[in-house]
Amino acid sequence: MKKVKKWGASLLAVLMVLATAACSGGGGNTADSTANQSAAGNGSKPTYQFKLAHITPPTHTWHLAAEKFKEELDKRSGGRMKLEIYPSSQLGTEPDMVQQIAAGSVDFGLITAAYLSSRSPSFAAWFTPFAFPDLKSANEARQTEVAKKILGTLDEQGLVGLDYLFAGQRVMLFKDKEVLKPEDMKGLKLRVTPSPPLQDFYKSTGASTEGIPLPEVYSAVQTGVIDGMDMDLDATISNKYYEVVKYGAVTNHMVWPSVAVVGKETFDKMPDEDKQIVRDAIAAAADFAATSRAAKEEEYRKTLSDNGMKIYEIDPALFAPMMQEFDQKYGGTHPLIQEFIDTFRKK
Ligand code: BEZ
Repeated sequence: MKKVKKWGASLLAVLMVLATAACSGGGGNTADSTANQSAAGNGSKPTYQFKLAHITPPTHTWHLAAEKFKEELDKRSGGRMKLEIYPSSQLGTEPDMVQQIAAGSVDFGLITAAYLSSRSPSFAAWFTPFAFPDLKSANEARQTEVAKKILGTLDEQGLVGLDYLFAGQRVMLFKDKEVLKPEDMKGLKLRVTPSPPLQDFYKSTGASTEGIPLPEVYSAVQTGVIDGMDMDLDATISNKYYEVVKYGAVTNHMVWPSVAVVGKETFDKMPDEDKQIVRDAIAAAADFAATSRAAKEEEYRKTLSDNGMKIYEIDPALFAPMMQEFDQKYGGTHPLIQEFIDTFRKK
């Protein structure tokens, strides 16, 4: 009998823990917890313990921007909004992250536009080759109607697209061939993020593409499985690709945005004042990402030259046929991609 009583007490404790966890929503957002709801009813404002996940290491622009977002949330909410950041795919791959955010167990994510284009096709617009002369112009494009409409397509995925955070533009790295024009890429096997618009652009030069995951790229180029890759200067340094490639063509042929997303259910539950704090904080982080990254361009080029790479440029005009092929193919696939091309392509 005594034993049964003890067992009954333990079961009650377990049930209470489960009930408390269910009340707090499991997503770190405590605004809907019993305690905070009553606090809000007493005239005080809700508090939040948010989680944000992304795939890049702590040295990458996106992580530094996430730190800025954390600081801005805290400051603008008077300490009511706290943020825990999980970098380096600690919470899983991008498909895992998106699932967790839509379900509410993670609040925010910085998800690559490249991955989102596989779920919401209009994001492919951001890979229109040579659409922007520099990061500053790409960052300004965040505010355009078409950029906002593309964010709006995430609604049907259970996500709210808040903003775009840019890392460095894309460059081309070659193991041991100095590529000076697109024709020199014919027959080369290059690692390109597994996203159709990026891969199609490379294929239009005559190269073949391999969608090797980032962690396997270093050994793939070292062992000669690939002849080079599409990358940004940031990741070329943080992943030490300069040890295994000789040539870096700073083509800046595409921009490389991540998209700041929040779970729709999480966001819809927040009071308007708090939604605005989140929007303002992420906008400050996005401006920080683009301006701080642009300021590092020369330093990054020098670091790579100092580490033995030949860093050079290729005239964008040489890629005109590839741009035309892209615009013709992708403009027809989605009205927002056509609108993007019409807005940004220099005539
Ligand atoms: C890539 O897959 O090439 C990549 C992803 C995130 C940051 C930088 C590069």
